[in-house]
Amino acid sequence: MQVAVHEAQTIVSAIERFGSPLFLYDESRLVANYASIREALPQAVRLYYSMKANPNPYLCSTIHQLDSPIEVASIGEYRRAVSIGVPAEEIVFTGPGKSREEIRACIEGGIFCINAESVQELQVIQEEAQQLGATVPVTLRVNLKTTRAGSRMASVGIPSQFGIDEDQLEDAIRTLLMKPQLHFIGLHTYQGTQNFHLDYYRESVPRMFDWVRKINRQFDLHLSTVGLGGGFGVPHFIGDEPFPIMEFGRIVAEELRKNEDLNLSHIFVESGRFITARMGCYISQVLYVKHSHGKRFAIIDGGTHHRAFSTVMGRSFKAHLPIRYILQDKKDTIREEVSGAHEGHVPTNVVGKLCTPTDVVQSGVQLPEALDRGDILIFPNSGAYGLSCGNLYFLSHTLPKEIWLAPDGSLQDVSWLG
Ligand SMILES: Cc1ncc(COP(=O)(O)O)c(C=O)c1O
Repeated sequence: MQVAVHEAQTIVSAIERFGSPLFLYDESRLVANYASIREALPQAVRLYYSMKANPNPYLCSTIHQLDSPIEVASIGEYRRAVSIGVPAEEIVFTGPGKSREEIRACIEGGIFCINAESVQELQVIQEEAQQLGATVPVTLRVNLKTTRAGSRMASVGIPSQFGIDEDQLEDAIRTLLMKPQLHFIGLHTYQGTQNFHLDYYRESVPRMFDWVRKINRQFDLHLSTVGLGGGFGVPHFIGDEPFPIMEFGRIVAEELRKNEDLNLSHIFVESGRFITARMGCYISQVLYVKHSHGKRFAIIDGGTHHRAFSTVMGRSFKAHLPIRYILQDKKDTIREEVSGAHEGHVPTNVVGKLCTPTDVVQSGVQLPEALDRGDILIFPNSGAYGLSCGNLYFLSHTLPKEIWLAPDGSLQDVSWLG
């Protein structure tokens, strides 16, 4: 398949200006994608950006300007959010292992809520809040009993370090309510990343509202907040269908209608990958081509230390989405890898430059026989869990640049990791 000429020219000129490998982030795609997610969700639902998916400050700032508050999982992410102008009351702090120092720092700086994941954590929040003379809004993360987690990395319905099991929830609430510095505002759940199945949400969304209702009644409270999770899947492998976000939006809208009487003022979902994965690609050049024991290898100038997450998930048993390539002598043409045996193409193991046999970026890729040094390989859907998720310091390789493609076609270096 041949793709738009201007894309090839953009990629070639990005490499000429900024070197290889690099990440290319396409603002127009980000904005269009964001708009389609926003359109799918009811107005009343806030869409938090989970910074862990791609913490690049320029990107986070752009997403925040599109109207997303931010979900952080460390004090480093919290500080980055504040430094790009996100007001403290637009930040929620999630994660099972928040340290005392992290908790103190976000209480000092202000926060919409801390999403507590254990009873012991509640005690630390109480102690720190007391010392600072503050009251802290807290939500409890619930590990829902479900058999339909759907996610490829489920964190509900199983023994998990994340959240509080449903059958421990009422006890946890009793403990929370005895802590004078904690303001219990609501519940949160998150089921794991790469969820493609609506069945989970058909079960979990009503369940979260049911819990709010039950708790309000049982403890004579008026909870204001419910976080419905996210983890919406993005295709990385052949056969992956895009997550049906419109249908998800309808499920949520229906539950909002049924539960209007709860008068919830803050209903949110959180997403990282679904917002950023598709706006980015990882681009690398072939350093060497060689043969060994009857197989062809293309060694690229990048590797799994940059594109970690999408390669570890199921690498050995699933076929990746096709990659694209630009040959040196056809620099105005991007072609896409064709699956299956194909004339003039040879199955190739695309490997990185790390000194470990596990550094296989994609194996069995059908690439032209003529593939040679300097040819360019382009890996789609790489805007999430790329650089910041990688084994970056192994072998002390230099970091790839992160390049921003603006709607007017201009390129800008927005790298931030040094
Ligand atoms: C609590 C929480 N929220 C949100 C996310 C983001 O998930 P995704 O990038 O799949 O949207 C994660 C990912 O691990 C998470 O743990």
